[in-house]
Amino acid sequence: MKAKKLLAVLLSLVMCFALVACGDDAAKKDDAAKTDTQQTEEKKDDAAEPAAAGGNKVGIAMPTKSLERWNRDGSFLEEQFKSKGYEVKLTFSDNKIDQQVKDIEGLLADGVNLLVIAAIDGESLSQVLAQAKEQNVPVISYDRLIMQTDAISYYVSFDNYTVGKLQGEFVRDQLDLDNAAGPFNIEFTAGDPADNNAGFFFNGAYDTLKPYIEAGKLVVQSGQTAFDQVATQQWDTAKAMTRMQNILGSNYSDQQLDVALCSNDSTALGVTQAIASDYKGKNNVLVTGQDGDEANLQNIVDGKQTMTVYKAVANEAKVTLDLGVAILSGKNPGEELIKDSGWDFDCTYDTSSYDNGTGIIPSFLLVPTVVTKDNIKSELVDPGYYTLDDKGYAHPVG
Ligand code: BGC
Repeated sequence: MKAKKLLAVLLSLVMCFALVACGDDAAKKDDAAKTDTQQTEEKKDDAAEPAAAGGNKVGIAMPTKSLERWNRDGSFLEEQFKSKGYEVKLTFSDNKIDQQVKDIEGLLADGVNLLVIAAIDGESLSQVLAQAKEQNVPVISYDRLIMQTDAISYYVSFDNYTVGKLQGEFVRDQLDLDNAAGPFNIEFTAGDPADNNAGFFFNGAYDTLKPYIEAGKLVVQSGQTAFDQVATQQWDTAKAMTRMQNILGSNYSDQQLDVALCSNDSTALGVTQAIASDYKGKNNVLVTGQDGDEANLQNIVDGKQTMTVYKAVANEAKVTLDLGVAILSGKNPGEELIKDSGWDFDCTYDTSSYDNGTGIIPSFLLVPTVVTKDNIKSELVDPGYYTLDDKGYAHPVG
């Protein structure tokens, strides 16, 4: 009996030793396949779970080079992931939905381990992302929420409703709507209906100004106040210009336009062109925007646009990197990503605002800021996002 027990103990000790040695070998192999930086990342967090998803190839799908910001997003994201030793495949799809589907198929065929996607059309990626899910490739929905697919792990963006709210509040404060009698005339220009963000921006602005429209202090002479009436396909500058030229021709030959509330800079650019070519009034129209595009910042300095809502995409890329690294090391981070990462900018973890039709997508949301002629230096240049030339115009870094 005693001898049997002793044998059993000995056997189990031998097995334990073999298992540990095996595990060690596997871990060593695994480590060898990873870059130094990834190992450091893993070591940083004592509670780190063993790498589940793994891999070090990241596919980044951006919508187009024709809208300024995505060039910046693409290069910041690429730079960030490369700086941590990841291999990066970056695609731009010329704002063509079919092209983006093909590009994502290509990235999957290339064996990427993580996808970061800013969708052209939020509703058109369900099929290709089902493929991603089948291949166990996690997806971060970048800036724009991808709809109708359960393949999305996380959403990284800015607080999109707040972007619109900041524009609405700016108009309210500039016109002193709580005290002034008005009435003031306003026209709205919103973004692409295929972009889930566009509705958030518009609603944020419209909800803020609605009480003043209802009180008759703000008047929309064109009568166009529904999102579908004011939307701009593909956020296209020329389309925004043509629509505003029509509005000016039909409604403002003998009226003053006080405000052109534009959801972003590419549409604001078209609207300011229409004002320059077709507006008969002599006043300065208050024009809003978003992004801090180069031409718009120049217009702000020259007094043709009044403000832009700036979103530091360099920081959006940082959040995406830290989230991507966590996902690739088998973690499923929430609030703690914000605490552990020690970013020097604000970000919130939101688990209630963004439902993509298959359920709530956990979201990391950064905070947008208002930029005017008066704070270009403090908001954009001093933090290192832009440089100023000798004419006082700002140029993005990176
Ligand atoms: C982005 C904006 C941008 C717009 C057009 C939106 O999804 O959030 O920053 O202006 O797309 O590119």
